[in-house]
Amino acid sequence: MRTVICPGSFDPVTLGHVDIVTRAAAMFDHVIVAVFVNLSKKPSFTMDERITLLQKALIGVKNIEVVGVNGLLAEYAKERDACAVVKGLRAVSDFEYEFQMSLTNKKLNPELETVFLTSRAEYMYLSSSIVKQVAMLDGDITNFVPQCIHGEIKERLGSKK
Ligand code: PNS
Repeated sequence: MRTVICPGSFDPVTLGHVDIVTRAAAMFDHVIVAVFVNLSKKPSFTMDERITLLQKALIGVKNIEVVGVNGLLAEYAKERDACAVVKGLRAVSDFEYEFQMSLTNKKLNPELETVFLTSRAEYMYLSSSIVKQVAMLDGDITNFVPQCIHGEIKERLGSKK
């Protein structure tokens, strides 16, 4: 059984994330969608909120689980016997940072591979920060996040003008 981890801040989950997780779930037996603390970012949603939004957004995908993790990705992968990390790559601008994380994880856990899936063209521009900016200014987030979580995100972030 091949288990992989899709890690991220997911602050909040976007349609781009849903696409990457769904494609990973079609390629591997089990996908752990892991919400991590990114020490260089200050999240807008709590860990519990991010997990709940992910669970709702991914309700139709069967071979996944959503977890919150405090600690190192490389160590968690060992604990869960995961063979790879799966991440989406949007543009060249993502590459340097993702390459650095991949090499760090490989040093910490030499068994661990990183698999990059190229973002779909329609989600190349999309990020959690874009969603937050548009929602805070009461804009339309229909094309950015799954329909079932629009309301929650807008309620939580809206009217911050
Ligand atoms: O969605 P993000 O913020 O680009 O995801 C980055 C994340 C959370 C995957 C990364 O910060 C991470 O792996 N955090 C866990 C802590 C860790 O292992 N850090 C060392 C790897 S550079």
